[in-house]
Amino acid sequence: MSGNGTLIIGASQAGLQLAVSLRQLGDTAPITLVGAETHPPYQRPPLSKEFLTGTAGPDTLALRTPAFYTDNRIDLVCGERITAVALPGPAGAGLAATASGRELRFDRLALTVGARPRRLPLPGAGLDGICRLRDHADAADLRRRLPSARHVVVVGGGFIGLEAAAAARALAGAASVTVVEAADRLMGRAVAPVVSEFYRRAHQRRGTEVRLATAVAAFEGAGGRVTAVRLTDGTLLPADLVLVGAGVVPRTELAEQLGLAVDGGIVVDAYARTSDPSVVAAGDCTTRPHPLTGEGRFRLESVQNAIAQAQVAAATLLGRFEETRTVPWFWSYQGDLKLQMAGLSAGHDGYVVRGSLDDEKFSVLYYGHGRLLAVDAVNRPADYMAVRKALGDGATIDPDRARDAEVPLKSLITTRVEAGLPA
Ligand code: APR
Repeated sequence: MSGNGTLIIGASQAGLQLAVSLRQLGDTAPITLVGAETHPPYQRPPLSKEFLTGTAGPDTLALRTPAFYTDNRIDLVCGERITAVALPGPAGAGLAATASGRELRFDRLALTVGARPRRLPLPGAGLDGICRLRDHADAADLRRRLPSARHVVVVGGGFIGLEAAAAARALAGAASVTVVEAADRLMGRAVAPVVSEFYRRAHQRRGTEVRLATAVAAFEGAGGRVTAVRLTDGTLLPADLVLVGAGVVPRTELAEQLGLAVDGGIVVDAYARTSDPSVVAAGDCTTRPHPLTGEGRFRLESVQNAIAQAQVAAATLLGRFEETRTVPWFWSYQGDLKLQMAGLSAGHDGYVVRGSLDDEKFSVLYYGHGRLLAVDAVNRPADYMAVRKALGDGATIDPDRARDAEVPLKSLITTRVEAGLPA
């Protein structure tokens, strides 16, 4: 080490955690945490929930106080985008250049650059009133526009779209809220069809129109402002506010510039090492092995993954390679519907529904080759907690007994892995 310390590119949940973990592990070298946004690191999840409805103010979002950065000697550089980076070599320290012309030297590099909202390259996409929701500025803009919006169209029936649709309905102004989803079900990336169908009905019951298997052809406007969304079947939906929540794309430009392996995300191993083992990466920008089994490759978009992976990355930078096993978990609160997920249901070959869809309190336990894989729990937090614990302990829950919603799941956790899920 020549005293330049660590440069962490990306000052959100993963980047901040990496800096914090370095200090907790006893690293005394300089740490520079640089981010393109002008706000110090803040929580993103409330942006599409409490922040939109106005029940959480901007002052509640900051992850740490300004004093925390000074006290921990974390040099936080906000409002600077790194556009070029070169790794340390025989010639000297690594060097990163910002868009404004500033140069930052480093000995160790971490990429925690996150993901950007997917843009829809459609006619009229640049009209005023077409919004997105990823960062603080997006959310503040949407929050300002929502109360006076009459006809809201949400493009994309994923977490962001549905959370925002619930918020739009909660605000008095909207006469109509319509969700347009390209796939044949809601939240298809994350949940099973039974949960998708429940959410379609639940949102419709609350007055949101849901249009599945529907593509947008163009946005129409007058005087530079959006007035309608034209669907490919010719339907014209009136709209004075459009939110595009059509997924995110990981930021991989810097990794590509460095010649690191990229495959739908920056490829990292279980120790958060990129294909150049001296460079680590963590958070939404990465594609990584399954956090419990170490198999396959997954790109996880969650606060929990950002934190867990950043902790591993910090240890790796300090030369400590620790085996970690973490249960992935996620949540999506859509108005009064609280969806909590633990584990990854990808590859499941059976599932058990527990509780009542009509009462809007149920959970779905997923199994693969008889092994408990994951849970989606709607307004049943105890089920979510039980499965999360079982997965963390490498235990299972008998699928047949889990069907009885009166028996607490916690009492059914067994360490023996059951073979075969009854049909
Ligand atoms: N028209 C309509 N729907 C589309 C289109 C399109 N052109 N393109 C994509 N979609 C749909 C997808 O089928 C999917 O259902 O948009 C949805 C996007 O859902 P997600 O992938 O969950 O992404 P999003 O809701 O944008 O959330 C992005 O932010 O808060 C986080 O956890 C959230 O990590 C997620 C991220």
